[in-house]
Amino acid sequence: MVSQRLQPFGSTIFTEISALSREHGATDLGQGYPTFEGPESVKQAAIDGLRNGWNQYPPSMGTAELRSAVADRWQADTGVTVDPDREVTVTSGATEALAATFIGTFDPGDEVILIEPYYDAYPVGCALSGAVPRFVTLHAPDFRLDPEALESAVSSRTRAILINTPHNPTGRVFDRAELEAVADLCRRHDLVAITDEVYERMVYVSDHIRLATLDGMAERTITISSIGKSFSFTGWKTGWAIAVPELTAGIRAAHQFLTFTVPNAMQYGSAAALRIDDSYYGELTDLYRAKRDRLVEGLRRIGLEVYEPQGTYFVLADHRPFGFEDDVSFVHHLITEVGVAAIPPSAFYSISDEGKRLVRFAFCKDDPVIDEALEKLAEMG
Ligand SMILES: Cc1ncc(COP(=O)(O)O)c(C=O)c1O
Repeated sequence: MVSQRLQPFGSTIFTEISALSREHGATDLGQGYPTFEGPESVKQAAIDGLRNGWNQYPPSMGTAELRSAVADRWQADTGVTVDPDREVTVTSGATEALAATFIGTFDPGDEVILIEPYYDAYPVGCALSGAVPRFVTLHAPDFRLDPEALESAVSSRTRAILINTPHNPTGRVFDRAELEAVADLCRRHDLVAITDEVYERMVYVSDHIRLATLDGMAERTITISSIGKSFSFTGWKTGWAIAVPELTAGIRAAHQFLTFTVPNAMQYGSAAALRIDDSYYGELTDLYRAKRDRLVEGLRRIGLEVYEPQGTYFVLADHRPFGFEDDVSFVHHLITEVGVAAIPPSAFYSISDEGKRLVRFAFCKDDPVIDEALEKLAEMG
């Protein structure tokens, strides 16, 4: 039995793909989990947490140690001070921060602008809260935010816009002009901005700009991020939302009854992660830039038209040179005949069918895994 609200999301293509991929022992460039782990010192901190009594319920809003580490990191990145007691909430990954934001902030019938292709938790957030999504499409080859398209998505019921930058799956890192257009829209229509910045440490172009730092945006932006991607511990599921007290109130009201809190020792380890030396981030970016180049060059050699990502650990390519009907049949062929798993991006679109000609590969994998996938793909051509 599945509620009507969630029926459209019940059984996703991704579940089928991972089952098929396991069955065929495919080299996995599909799901976005690293095949390597984060810093030993951070892992050790979580172990110390378990050993040293961080094992009972922590406060619902998160431990004081993690909230102040989030606030200090934010200060180091933006120069802006946030109050860890009133403006930071620790959640079970960015996913719960998103759910709590939707449930705690919107009423049924409120409209939220979502950018497609999207991370699939966003339309689900709408379904959970009764909010109505209004989609704006990013078009290949540039995948730029179009201010006119954003404007025409606004109605008298619009309450918010959700921006994911760096953007999964296009790899776009939205530039200042695009984000200023979003900020302008929010100010003129009195909208809340939700930003999902989980790929904030995988940026290969100019700086990652945080929407909350633009004029007049701190008081209307909910910034969401997590430990998973930045520290190669996606299983830790420890994230947070930063927002002024008025917006934090809704998030905390929902979080209190969604999960209440996040495992204590993981919060202890996550606080240590956020206090890591800054040089860590530069090394991580270099590692991922090299992996991006390895995969992008390899895919181009094979004959795919590749949209080089500016951020994240995903790359989109156009599979049409191979003559398949759509992305699902292409990915099915890749898994069953070639032995490589990838993701069909049509599942990330609601109004456009542009996803059908695309395929998404992940490069958060050890080099031999990337090379093995490229060797298998080369045999296709
Ligand atoms: C854009 C985006 N947001 C959020 C998440 C989930 O983050 P977390 O694991 O912290 O819940 C993902 C994971 O794939 C993602 O791609």
